[in-house]
Amino acid sequence: MENLQGKTAFITGGASGLGLGIAKACAKEGMNIVIADLRQDAIDEALVIFKENNWPAIGVCLNVADREAYVAAADAAEAAFGKIHVLVNNAGLGVPEGKIWEDSWDVIDLAIDVNYKGVLNGMKIILPRIIAHGEGGHVVSTASKAALVPVPGFTLYNSLKMAVVTVMETLATDLRGTNIGSSVFCPGPFVTNLGASTGTVMKSMGVEVKRPEPPKAPEKKDDAPPPPKMDIDFSKIMRSPDEAGARVVRGIKRNDIYIFSHTDFKAGWVARAEAIAKGFPDEPLNPDFNKVFSILAYNPTFERQTQVPAWEE
Ligand SMILES: NC(=O)c1ccc[n+]([C@@H]2O[C@H](COP(=O)([O-])OP(=O)(O)OC[C@H]3O[C@@H](n4cnc5c(N)ncnc54)[C@H](O)[C@@H]3O)[C@@H](O)[C@H]2O)c1
Repeated sequence: MENLQGKTAFITGGASGLGLGIAKACAKEGMNIVIADLRQDAIDEALVIFKENNWPAIGVCLNVADREAYVAAADAAEAAFGKIHVLVNNAGLGVPEGKIWEDSWDVIDLAIDVNYKGVLNGMKIILPRIIAHGEGGHVVSTASKAALVPVPGFTLYNSLKMAVVTVMETLATDLRGTNIGSSVFCPGPFVTNLGASTGTVMKSMGVEVKRPEPPKAPEKKDDAPPPPKMDIDFSKIMRSPDEAGARVVRGIKRNDIYIFSHTDFKAGWVARAEAIAKGFPDEPLNPDFNKVFSILAYNPTFERQTQVPAWEE
């Protein structure tokens, strides 16, 4: 979608962090913004920014796991702006660390409800409305770098984010030949409120997380040398949500399948892909296989992805 002017974006988790960064970047393109978020106080705070800039925006209080409320939120968006063109499935919980066999059923169910079903709910409720108006559109879902290089001890977060990657890849395939694009955003580290908002959201849903006792810090000896100073610009590592928003808008305009922020994760992904390739037995290929199962063995959708140029601030 090259021209976003006058179009409407529906952004879940849009009241804070990356969602807010995406909302601001879309507003700068002249879009109408619908901020759909579970935390009303955060929506109110975010809307101030839009008012100050004369950016058209509304807020809707929504739990993406609640399908009835989701339909009402979509209706409210259409009542305000007519049509929805861009859906950003961004709301998510930073599911706390835990070995999967130690996670409570409550945490497992909530993680699936918000981080996975929340995305599917957007597809079922908003996407048919985008298809129906015929003006074109785009769907972006926020996954994570944790989908590409799994973080130890985060089974739920890693696997549900990888599920989101696969949902968006399949959507890109299923939307081929239409005027609707599909992208997955896999951010590296950004400075957001994920830890705090996850705690608030989980508490509001009655889910308690029992964290293991943190390991005790080693006793400090008076004569111990001070830790070496690191000459690192942390703002280049933990980046700003505004940059995330601008990268997502670029991805929508380029119709990228993959929107990444930190190329630092590429080597980890390549190692994973190479390891998977090595898992295939060293056996000859069956020349008839593709005659029978070509679409299972090779998906031409990936050919759509062109090399993304370096980011220019
Ligand atoms: N911050 C990072 O470094 C990072 C890295 C990779 C992926 N992510 C992903 O980015 C997305 C946005 O997170 P963020 O880091 O901007 O955090 P954030 O806390 O700043 O924003 C997340 C927003 O989602 C909302 N939310 C949570 N559950 C919701 C629900 N059920 N329904 C509606 N809204 C809900 C919260 O209220 C919050 O405003 C998440 O999906 C997260 O997993 C973040």
